[in-house]
Amino acid sequence: RIHPVILSGGSGTRLWPLSRAALPKQLLPLVSERTMLQETVLRLSGIADITPPTLVCNHEHRFMVAEQMRAIEVTPETIFLEPIGRNTAPAAAVAALALMARDAEALMLLLPADHLIADVDAFERAVAQAVDAAQASQLVTFGIVPQAPETGYGYIQRGPADSHLDGVFAVGRFVEKPSREIAQGYLQSGDYFWNSGMFLFKAAAFVNELRGYRPDILAASQAALDSSQRDLDFVRLDTQAFTACPSESIDYAVMERTRNAVVVPADIGWSDIGSWSALWEIGAKDRAGNVMRGDIYNDGASNNLIRAESRMVAVIGVSDLVIVETSDAVMVAHKDRVQDVKKVVEHLKQHR
Ligand code: GDD
Ligand code: MG
Repeated sequence: RIHPVILSGGSGTRLWPLSRAALPKQLLPLVSERTMLQETVLRLSGIADITPPTLVCNHEHRFMVAEQMRAIEVTPETIFLEPIGRNTAPAAAVAALALMARDAEALMLLLPADHLIADVDAFERAVAQAVDAAQASQLVTFGIVPQAPETGYGYIQRGPADSHLDGVFAVGRFVEKPSREIAQGYLQSGDYFWNSGMFLFKAAAFVNELRGYRPDILAASQAALDSSQRDLDFVRLDTQAFTACPSESIDYAVMERTRNAVVVPADIGWSDIGSWSALWEIGAKDRAGNVMRGDIYNDGASNNLIRAESRMVAVIGVSDLVIVETSDAVMVAHKDRVQDVKKVVEHLKQHR
């Protein structure tokens, strides 16, 4: 069976002022009326032989996460609570160890909680194509055809096609977050995919890789799980053991090093909504190219993303802006400068 494990612990600073530490991107309704986490869970319903999801999130978000699952009438298999973020490798390790203990053959579909997948049928097909390789103990990545030399993604070099498995390719190499120059070279070569951040593998196969490359992370994750406490619907990981775990992403800890990775190319309408401009690009536009949500008066404005959360916003004759109004902060930025939103968050951390 396929056990989805959803990582819901990120903080999403690039979507300030909507996304905050207390209310990160995955818990917000960004693209539809449902939150990104709810969308992530609901899009799994068509996958054959799938179990209810396991969620891994920060303890601070536990009631919001539980309530969002109740609202879509999903009962998670487990909600693991992290006392502190240790990035994705420990979160995945805890879930894998718990799964393995129940079922040595369990397949784990590791998913970020904050991505958009526009073509759910194609996503289901990609997962189906990955199953045989995962059952053969390989770590399956899902590759996205790159569109720009983005430096915030992992890059996967496509190797030869698998001689038996349709749609499965060897991985030449995996490079996490390369520099701009290197990303440019990968893009031009035509040999590379973006790593979508989704993986399918046997829980046991992933644990094996960690044992080889990061036994420290594996041991700390096991200790945090062994001393965990059940609390209502939650499983609270042991604070001391988990806090002692090194902070590392699955990409650096395992994917850059493993020799057992394969890639399934996935043309699924994928976006990780990494910025306000990405949200504008995928959003439904009016005739003048505006993406608007909330109470907005518009006179001749064009190609803007405008979001009014708590008050009315009036825009007159402006173009190519991102305007986000919330009850305690308003941001106005040029669409070409939205990457600098994270500087605001850094400023706030230092000065408030
Ligand atoms: N539970 C938990 N704990 N979840 C976490 C933590 C944590 O400490 N840190 C991050 N997450 C969640 C995020 O909420 C997100 O859903 C997912 O794990 C991925 O983490 P990101 O922090 O968003 O990773 P990234 O975007 O820098 O890079 C990853 O995704 C890219 C695609 O969007 C990598 O896998 C890249 O290789 C990939 O290209
Ligand atoms: Mg991300």
